[in-house]
Parts: sequence; structure tokens; C-alpha cells
Amino acid sequence: MSLFFFFFFISLLPFLPSSSSLHYPFNYSIHIDCGSLSNSTDVFNTSWLSDRYFTGGSTSVVSEPLHFQHPQEKTLRYFPVSSGKKNCYTIPNLPAGGRYQLRLFTVYDNYDGKSHSPSFDVSVEGNVVFQWRSPWHESISRAGAYSDLFFTIDDDDVADVCFYSIATDSPVIASLEITQIDPASYLVNDSSILVNYGRFSSGSDQWGPGFSNDTDRFGRSWQSDSDFRSKVAGVTTGAHIKAISAMKNVVNVDKAPNYFPLKLYQTAVTVIGEGGEYLEYNLPVDAKLDYLLWFHFAEIDVSVNRAGKRVFEVVVNGENVSRVDIYEKVGSFAAYDWSYVVKNLSDTELNVRLVPVVGAPVICGLENYAIIPPDLKTLPQQVVAMKALKESLRVPDRMGWNGDPCAPTTWDAWEGVTCHPTKNGSLVISQIDLGSQGLKGYISDQIGLLSNLVSLNLSSNSLGGSLPWGLGQKSLVKLDLSNNKFTGSIPDSLASSTLQFVYLNSNELEGLVPEELLSIGVHGGAIDLSGNKGLCGGPTLPDCPLFWNKEGLSTAGKAAIGISCLVFVCVVLFVAYICYKRRQNDYDFGLPHELMSLAAKRNRYQRQKSLMTLEMESQHAKGFIPTYNAT
Ligand SMILES: *[C@@H]1O[C@H](CO)[C@@H](O)[C@H](O)[C@H]1NC(C)=O
Ligand SMILES: *[C@@H]1O[C@H](CO)[C@@H](O)[C@H](O)[C@H]1NC(C)=O
Ligand SMILES: *[C@@H]1O[C@H](CO)[C@@H](O)[C@H](O)[C@H]1NC(C)=O
Ligand SMILES: *[C@@H]1O[C@H](CO)[C@@H](O)[C@H](O)[C@H]1NC(C)=O
Ligand SMILES: *[C@@H]1O[C@H](CO)[C@@H](O)[C@H](O)[C@H]1NC(C)=O
Ligand SMILES: *[C@@H]1O[C@H](CO)[C@@H](O)[C@H](O)[C@H]1NC(C)=O
Ligand SMILES: *[C@@H]1O[C@H](CO)[C@@H](O)[C@H](O)[C@H]1NC(C)=O
Ligand SMILES: *[C@@H]1O[C@H](CO)[C@@H](O)[C@H](O)[C@H]1NC(C)=O
Ligand SMILES: *[C@@H]1O[C@H](CO)[C@@H](O)[C@H](O)[C@H]1NC(C)=O
Repeated sequence: MSLFFFFFFISLLPFLPSSSSLHYPFNYSIHIDCGSLSNSTDVFNTSWLSDRYFTGGSTSVVSEPLHFQHPQEKTLRYFPVSSGKKNCYTIPNLPAGGRYQLRLFTVYDNYDGKSHSPSFDVSVEGNVVFQWRSPWHESISRAGAYSDLFFTIDDDDVADVCFYSIATDSPVIASLEITQIDPASYLVNDSSILVNYGRFSSGSDQWGPGFSNDTDRFGRSWQSDSDFRSKVAGVTTGAHIKAISAMKNVVNVDKAPNYFPLKLYQTAVTVIGEGGEYLEYNLPVDAKLDYLLWFHFAEIDVSVNRAGKRVFEVVVNGENVSRVDIYEKVGSFAAYDWSYVVKNLSDTELNVRLVPVVGAPVICGLENYAIIPPDLKTLPQQVVAMKALKESLRVPDRMGWNGDPCAPTTWDAWEGVTCHPTKNGSLVISQIDLGSQGLKGYISDQIGLLSNLVSLNLSSNSLGGSLPWGLGQKSLVKLDLSNNKFTGSIPDSLASSTLQFVYLNSNELEGLVPEELLSIGVHGGAIDLSGNKGLCGGPTLPDCPLFWNKEGLSTAGKAAIGISCLVFVCVVLFVAYICYKRRQNDYDFGLPHELMSLAAKRNRYQRQKSLMTLEMESQHAKGFIPTYNAT
């Protein structure tokens, strides 16, 4: 897939102010100068931010910076395999639920001295949109190319633009721009992505943001149509194409939802000849996709002053699709747009002809977009869970855990993660295999959100902490956590799942093994609990101490200990009370509720007291003893 509008150094047409006086409601934009350490402002007064929002990679500079006009085109970010197979720019805080134009500048220019332009894919919001394949066309490899598309952010305020390396190639990116556009623009019915396969302004040079001081509210830049226009064909050989430009203002421009700029309608091309000659464009496309063609017309020739004076047929791939009489539709010096969706393309070239019926055909501009239907996405709560696991397991960069865990479906980009589509059209995580990856963290309890997880293998790492209660989703069949440093007990939640293979050996687990787990071995599955610190209760494990279960102590055990403690505390308090009372008795001369031994003991210390006192105390004590024994 390759539509890039090539990089031109151009002569500029005079700046023409926009005719709209209304406040334009979609004003968010961001321009990131990838690989750059500093903010800057370019010659068109666009503010470029230093490189940010990337997940990894390194920076470099093109080999011949002097060949590039703008600073943002000279520095680049590349993603070597060591930073993972999938890397992203994750742009935060966008106006939520909006539609945007994304524009990338991609360049190789042998920055790495390897003379090998890389192969990689680019996705936006989990949809593959560009596929770069080595070797690149010589001019693009050297001078770079812009590419752009329109996309929608569905449920959050974050845009993911991700890069997937193929083999060991490092994806590269030199600049990234996002401009908010009207969500109702270009008749988009769902969140389809429209990838620019050609946006031409007839009869002028390249213009628009990044190329001239001319404005376009959507950040669209407009190529000259000359590269895509075939030679005049038709009746006579002397016929030629003529560029014309407006002598008067053109109305009906800069209107919602598409906000086409005035400048687009101020130039046009037509055919000069003896009649019957047609205008023809050949647009490069990729087969298997549908394309949205957007035609721009305006009658800017003062000699065409009534309906029926200029009529022509629009023919797409040999099929008459519309008969156009601009004057009849909108009069002169007014913009007239017409769009058409081409389906089931089987060729790599899309042919558009404007065939005259009366007079010569005329055109101001043409846009061609591939319609990329939205790919499946991972269930949002499973994305949350995977991001929590990435943190808690401390998954290393090289595993590429960036962006959506499952989308696009053509890439299993999160190493060790396997996904499946569900019946209702979302993607879910079914398997996580991260054995022997040197992981050092713990398992986040959020793992419970992975309600379709069938197999989890985290064996032979250095993971610690206790096994979370979230583990044990109904779907789980296979669990290998062997050879780690997990501590604590086996949660009851594990026993309620449909587990058939459980390997918890060589950890530091302790406590009673849930009975249901032990039955796994009996029913043809496999379970290994050996080599733990203090698991008990299984057939191959030691018996648990009395009152001991997987929590350490059973409820009954706790109750028993609680009661024992309570009794002990009571006794201590009682004794203390007696002591206290005894002390009081030193002066108050006793009450009939003292233990004889204590009394006797005390008597020994209190001999200096009066004899009478001692006798009284002894009597009280004696009197008390039978009562005590009887209870
Ligand atoms: C952008 O548009 C919003 C309303 O849609 C407005 O509140 C805000 O002031 C605008 N910002 C700028 C910088 O124009
Ligand atoms: C660039 O500008 C942004 C926002 O205006 C600011 O937050 C950031 O610190 C600046 N960076 C540098 C390197 O000056
Ligand atoms: C450049 O942009 C700034 C705001 O970003 C504005 O204040 C300034 O007038 C602009 N300069 C020109 C020459 O357009
Ligand atoms: C959107 O739907 C309308 C009518 O339902 C159709 O005419 C138009 O072509 C569709 N747009 C795209 C981009 O598919
Ligand atoms: C764009 O406009 C600014 C001031 O309005 C001017 O300095 C600059 O040279 C212009 N850029 C080009 C490429 O014409
Ligand atoms: C298509 O348009 C051409 C030019 O007007 C005309 O000659 C031809 O008959 C048309 N074909 C059909 C099928 O309408
Ligand atoms: C496109 O192809 C599909 C199936 O291949 C078919 O159902 C549909 O009718 C075709 N559409 C057109 C416009 O040819
Ligand atoms: C799809 O199904 C899953 C269960 O498999 C459910 O959790 C989710 O909410 C469903 N999504 C939609 C959009 O219905
Ligand atoms: C878990 O992964 C390791 C490799 O890291 C493998 O040897 C082991 O067999 C796997 N466990 C299961 C239960 O498949």
C-alpha cells in the first residue's frame, strides 16, 4: 500500500484569506518532531513539539540533512528489535470521541548506513493503515514522503499510532501530526478510516499546511494533479490541457462538514481542442479495498453563463457514474462537490475520465481515499487488565507490550499473548505464555478481568507475592506458575475454576490445599504441588497441623485460639484484679474472694502487718476455697 504525496519544493501562490467568519469548532492539533530534543516553529508558523509520547526506540538524523527543508524532517525515531516488535506513539488528552487527520512523514535516507530501507507496518487505533516494504522507491527512500488519513477515536481520549517491525527491520518515523476535523466530514458512516490515496488540486502546485502558507482547516495538503493526469486523449492530436484560474471570488466554500478551502476552487484544468477530448486520471490503488472518490468542480469560466453550456460524463473504470452540469447545479463561481464509492476493485489502478457531452470538461480537484473498515478491538476491561499485568509482571520492553494487546488481528504483537475473537465481535485474551522471561514482579489482581483466559504460563521466573484472588476465572484450564517465589496460600478461587493442569511446584506456598484442586489429579488432569514451603493436606503432602488449612488456620482453629486467648486474658485480668484488690486489702482488710496461695504468699510479705490482719485474711481465704473448687 503506498500512497504518499511526494515531497516538492514549490513556488507558492499568494495567500488567500478564508471567507468564513464563524468560529471553527474543531481546533485541536499537535505536531510532534520525532527524534528532536527541542520545540521549534517552522517557516509556516507551525509549532513543533519535541519528541514525546513514544513507547521506546532511539533517535537519529538523516544522512544528508541539508537536502531537507524543514527541521522536523531531519530528525527521526527508529524502533530497533531490542525495544520490541510493536512500538507506539500514544497521544493523550485528545478531545474525546473526535475525528482526526493523522499525517506522518516517513524517511530513511540511509540514516543507519546499512543501505537497507526497512519493512514495517503502521496501525492507527488497531487498524493497519500503511505497509512499508523494502526496497522503497528510490526518491521516497532519499527524500521521504508524507502520508495521511482520517480516523475516529471511539471510546477514549487517546490515539495509538503503532509500528510493527518485520523480521529485524527497525520502523522509522520523522514527524507525526494530528489535526481535529469535523466528525461528519466525508460521509463516514462508521469509524472507517479513510487513507489518502491522492488529493489533487487541478491547475496549481502543491499547497496547504506544511507546503505553503495557505490554510486548510483539516490540515489537508493538496498535490498538483499533473503527475496523475494522463495526456489528453480523444479526437484530435493538437488538443492540450489548459489551467484556468478564477477572476472572481468563489462561493459555497469553507462550509461544514468538509470545510473545503477557497483556494481549491480558484484553479481548474480543462481541455482545449476541437471537441470530444476527455480528461483522464490514473490513480494508484490497492486491490480488494473500496475507494471513496470526491470530485471538486466550479464553473470559473465567465463564458459559461447558462445551464447546458458545459456538460460532461464522469466515467469510473469504464462505467458512466454521473452526468455533470455545474451551472445547472450551483450556477457559476460556486463550489460543487460530488462523491462516489468504488467497490470491489480488482486492479491496482483506478481510471477516472471526464468525457464531454457539451463543451469541454473542467475539474478543480479530486480526492481518493481507501475505505478501511474498522478492525476488531480488545474488550476495554481486558486492555485494562493487560496493562496492569504489564506493570506488575514488569514485562521487558523487548516483548513489545504497547498499544492494543490484540488488535490489529493480523499481528500477534504482544509477545507471549494469544487472542481470540468473540461472537459479538471483540477480541479477548485466551493465552499468556511468559515462561523463563526473567520476570521479577507479581501477578496483579486485575488478572481476574481476563474472563476468557484459558492458559497462563509464568513458569521459571522470579515472580513473588501471593496468588491473587482474581486468578481462577471459570475459563482457566491450564496454570503453570512453577519455579517462582510465590508465597502465601492457594486462594479458594482457584478451586472453583475448570482447571485441568496445575503446576505450582517449586514456590514458597504454604497452607492447606483446597480439596477441589486435589481432585484434578484424579480426573485425568495433572497437578504438581511439590517443592513448596509448607503446603499441606494433599495425598503426597504432609498432614496439616490441627486447625490448619490453606489460610494457615481454619475458622475453628482461629476460634479455638481466640477462646484460649480470651480465657487466658480473663485469668490474667482476674489475677491482676486480685492483686489490685489484695493491695487494697492491705488497707481495707480484705474481702472474701481471694485464693489461699496468693493470700499465703502475700502473707509472707506482709508479716510486718498486724497479726490480726493476717488471721482475718486467712479466714477469708479459707472460706473462699470450697466455693472455688465447686465451680
Ligand atoms: C477551540 O474550540 C473550543 C470550542 O469548540 C473553544 O472553547 C476554544 O476556545 C477553542 N480554542 C482555540 C485555541 O481556539
Ligand atoms: C515544548 O513545549 C511543551 C508545551 O508547550 C512544553 O511542555 C515542553 O517542556 C517544551 N519542551 C522543550 C524541550 O522545550
Ligand atoms: C504565528 O502564530 C502565533 C500563535 O501561534 C501568532 O501569535 C503569530 O501572529 C503568528 N505569526 C504569523 C506571522 O502568522
Ligand atoms: C455512507 O452511507 C451513505 C448512505 O447510507 C452512502 O451513500 C455513502 O457512500 C456511505 N459512505 C461511505 C464512506 O461508505
Ligand atoms: C509564510 O508567511 C510568513 C509570514 O506571514 C513568511 O515569513 C514566510 O516566509 C512565508 N513562508 C513561505 C514559504 O512563503
Ligand atoms: C457514457 O457516456 C458516454 C459519453 O457521454 C456516452 O457516449 C455513452 O453512451 C454513455 N454510456 C452509457 C451506458 O450511458
Ligand atoms: C462486491 O463483491 C461482493 C462479494 O464478492 C458482492 O456480493 C457484491 O455484490 C459486489 N459489489 C459490487 C458493487 O460489485
Ligand atoms: C461481548 O461479549 C463479552 C463476553 O464474551 C462481554 O463481556 C462484552 O460486554 C460483549 N461486548 C459487547 C459490545 O457486547
Ligand atoms: C510453560 O512454559 C515452559 C517454557 O517456558 C514450558 O517448558 C512448559 O512446558 C510450559 N508449561 C505448560 C504447562 O505447558
